[in-house]
Amino acid sequence: MTDHSTSAARQESLARLFSAAKVVPVITIDRIEDAVPLARSLVAGGIRVLEITLRTSVALEAAKAIIAEVPDAIVGLGTVLDGADLARAASIDAKFALSPGATPELLQAASRSHIPFVPGIATASELMAALAHGFEIVKFFPAQQAGGISALRALGGPFPHARFCPTGGISVTNAAEWLSERNVVAVGGSWLCPAADIRAGNWDSITARARQAMEMPAR
Ligand code: 3PG
Repeated sequence: MTDHSTSAARQESLARLFSAAKVVPVITIDRIEDAVPLARSLVAGGIRVLEITLRTSVALEAAKAIIAEVPDAIVGLGTVLDGADLARAASIDAKFALSPGATPELLQAASRSHIPFVPGIATASELMAALAHGFEIVKFFPAQQAGGISALRALGGPFPHARFCPTGGISVTNAAEWLSERNVVAVGGSWLCPAADIRAGNWDSITARARQAMEMPAR
């Protein structure tokens, strides 16, 4: 059973973390040696909260390396698809976990876990399932493709307490617009760390992109 009092406190600290972060880069690391310099380049640009996606064979090791070597980074795991992924996140002391979706199995596993969890939703029913399990902060995914800001506003009508981290199709050109929505705590996206820049070790351009993102007005 969900302990809603504990989960409410966890939701509040998650909301504070995401609001302070404003922008959460969605990071895919192919080569372990890129992990630490990439995290350092984001931190140098003012971005500390990082989502390392579990999409590559080195993802978990990469997240562990960042946790060990970049103390200013606040590392969460993304692309968490099931209870086993959630356990992986807990095993490396990730500060939070995010999923693109909200399956019943994952919501149940997350209710039992101590790791702060952000499920992904794109419909009212998925949001209702997340809320029923005590998750008020959700990833709206894929945000642009699933209807953009007008869809977010429509979801905010019946669910005024839900708070969103829109991800999917967000970039420097539209992030500020999303951030000005009353129920958006932060935006996520891969635009801050393009694969080509990671591959080429263009850390300065990632720092510049991070800085530009942090200069965006928020609310
Ligand atoms: C995610 O997993 O959150 C998305 O892949 C990020 O979407 P984007 O690449 O459009 O930013």
